[in-house]
Amino acid sequence: MSVLPTAELHLHIEGTLEPELIFALAGRNGIELPYADVEELRRQYQFADLQSFLNLYYDNMAVLQTEQDFADMTRAYLARAQAAGVRHAEIMMDPQAHLSRGISLATCVNGVASALAGSEEELGISTELIAAFLRDEPAEEALAVLEQLLAMEAPIIGIGLDSAEVGHPPRDFVALYERAHEAGLKCIAHAGEEGPPEYIREALDLLKVARIDHGIRCMEDEELVQRLAAEQTPLTVCPLSNVRLRAVDTLADHPLPRMLERGLNVSVNSDDPAYFGGYVDDNFIQLQSVFSFDDDQLAQLAANSVRSAFITDARRRELL
Ligand code: ADE
Ligand code: ZN
Repeated sequence: MSVLPTAELHLHIEGTLEPELIFALAGRNGIELPYADVEELRRQYQFADLQSFLNLYYDNMAVLQTEQDFADMTRAYLARAQAAGVRHAEIMMDPQAHLSRGISLATCVNGVASALAGSEEELGISTELIAAFLRDEPAEEALAVLEQLLAMEAPIIGIGLDSAEVGHPPRDFVALYERAHEAGLKCIAHAGEEGPPEYIREALDLLKVARIDHGIRCMEDEELVQRLAAEQTPLTVCPLSNVRLRAVDTLADHPLPRMLERGLNVSVNSDDPAYFGGYVDDNFIQLQSVFSFDDDQLAQLAANSVRSAFITDARRRELL
């Protein structure tokens, strides 16, 4: 399978923290980890659901202390993404998960942004940064953090909504999204990963998002499928993530082929590649081993990622 130029639109930078780097950063920062070695840490990577993953994901962030740590994590992702054929990446980070540990916004934002700054020239990967807000924390806190990001002129192009989905519907975050739209930011949200199709509708109608992260549970709602297909709403699908978090039983059960058949604007993304068994190329390789997509389908998936990216028309033409 040739490596198609592609855009990665659904990627949490903290989810690229590989076990080896976790140990290296822990050593550098004098942090004692509750695991004897990398292998013992890796053995924890078996998840029953989204929450069991999130618990480990937030715990492991303890090793991120300095701007340099955030920059090193980001550089490691970019190098691996280049090998995966990624030409443009829109990268989410979780500022609240660092603020709650006593790490300043400047430390996490500047660390990630400094690594992104050279990526187009050095690696041929254009990048954008998106601040994601934790839906299982109070909506007022999210709004206050957004105001701080705006006040410091953080180099973000948009906002997202992530963390534990069920019980935390988009309707709780209307004020946050109104403020983001007013500030000229792009708006996206996780919806329909574990949560019901209704959350996808709310994200579209109440938060007025331009893209849905995951969105796979739309397939339970025929009317919603028809709407998403008609409006060509981008759905940033993450197949290996869905398997590892048990949103689907096996990759063979994944709805991606049916979503393509229904004319939905789906792309393939890695979500938290250090935790879910692979980067975007690994996602494609494993999909191919199960579904044997033809060249047209593979080209469609790559083209969907590029046409759904927050880039200029000139950059889009370069990538298509
Ligand atoms: N944060 C990091 N990865 C996530 C995912 N797959 N769903 C929700 N929140 C997340
Ligand atoms: Zn995600």
